[in-house]
Amino acid sequence: MPTPLYDALRAYAARGPARFHMPGHKGRDLPLAELRGLASIDVTELPGTGNLYEPGEPFDAAQALWAERFGFDQCQFLTGGSTQGVHTGLALCCAPGERVLMDRGCHRSAFHALALLDLEPVWLERPWLRRENLTGPISPEAVEQALEQNPDVKTVCITSPTYAGVLSNVGALSRIVHAHGARLFVDGAHGAHLPFLGLAPFWGADAAAVSAHKTLPAMGQSALLFASGFGPERVRQTASVYGTSSPSYPMMASMDAARDWMEGEGTWEYQRAAVRVAELRRKFPSLQPGNGLSLDPTRLTLKVEDGPAFGLELERRGIFAEMSDGGHIILICTCCDDDDAFRRLDQALEALRSRMGDCPPLPPPPLPRAAVSPRQAMFAPRETAPLADCAGRIAAAPIAPYPPGVPVIAPGERIEKKYLAYLREIGYNKTNAEVLC
Ligand SMILES: Cc1ncc(COP(=O)(O)O)c(C=O)c1O
Repeated sequence: MPTPLYDALRAYAARGPARFHMPGHKGRDLPLAELRGLASIDVTELPGTGNLYEPGEPFDAAQALWAERFGFDQCQFLTGGSTQGVHTGLALCCAPGERVLMDRGCHRSAFHALALLDLEPVWLERPWLRRENLTGPISPEAVEQALEQNPDVKTVCITSPTYAGVLSNVGALSRIVHAHGARLFVDGAHGAHLPFLGLAPFWGADAAAVSAHKTLPAMGQSALLFASGFGPERVRQTASVYGTSSPSYPMMASMDAARDWMEGEGTWEYQRAAVRVAELRRKFPSLQPGNGLSLDPTRLTLKVEDGPAFGLELERRGIFAEMSDGGHIILICTCCDDDDAFRRLDQALEALRSRMGDCPPLPPPPLPRAAVSPRQAMFAPRETAPLADCAGRIAAAPIAPYPPGVPVIAPGERIEKKYLAYLREIGYNKTNAEVLC
């Protein structure tokens, strides 16, 4: 099976080159034993190894294979995570100063992009699922209504899937967005594996970013941007604005190889994980698909009485979840969780069964009011103040429990008392906030 980038790196290493170029370890001497195996393919732009931000091989072939699998004109490798993808995607879709219809459930990277690009958000609120105590999928009707009320908006930005695994109907949303002459950008950070499971979670979007490192066997920070209709040169150039000029070749080779593996054995391994997750969902109180709710088949969102306390109990048993909130524990399950890992999880959940079940409702308060624009807030003089003393002040940076990194208060919004109470209720554990002077 083809791995054009990895093959090119191995071919270079096989020449036994005297490397008078970056990186300084010269393919040999990394002090950490765990990293030594990587050194021979940790290279730089050379004849044969290509340049990420210029046309040519081996990147053209390696990225085209990904683009084909995801159904886009173009794929761009990223070494700055989906954060780089969100910044690049929004820069491609929007011109500075524009208004953008943005999912309030977006990650803080999208809020930072608003400031960097001087965009004005028109918020799209997600419906609150009372039974699940979580926000649900983006409603196509709400998008249609917002676009009719704001005809100047030419970009819609949503997150799908969410951290909890909730998928929005991107196909239906894209038809509405395009009918209004706008573009759809999807932050799909948590969905890099879904096209390998036969799903089309980004179908119809103009651009989408995914984190290979979150759900595929790929190195930390590795991510991809998919785009159609912008032209390759523009995508490459825009991505280069937000990325390093020395992108990591091991990271990019790990994406090349992850795709190749996922086209074969990996598909089966991922399906095995989905079967195990379905079993656990049947056995323990958890977010279930159906009744209009479409879920990532491998994301396990358990309902528990007290998320952080439950997380500590799991850790005592040697099990580390991705995140918890007031009433949920979210576990990322992938093709790389073997039967032993699932057995240990099953046993731990069985032992903690009495602490599971419907959680106390914690619906978010109505959206805060904006006092200044995201850009004004992010680049204005600021100070750090104890959060408890911040009632009435204006946030200079997102106040966002991490994970999931979804801001409760965005830069430029006023911190009212009710939000401080809500942050306490959901167990937000930072004591300070950045506020305007
Ligand atoms: C929805 C979402 N988008 C974007 C990001 C940023 O991704 P990365 O950490 O790959 O930069 C995250 C990170 O958790 C996320 O949850």
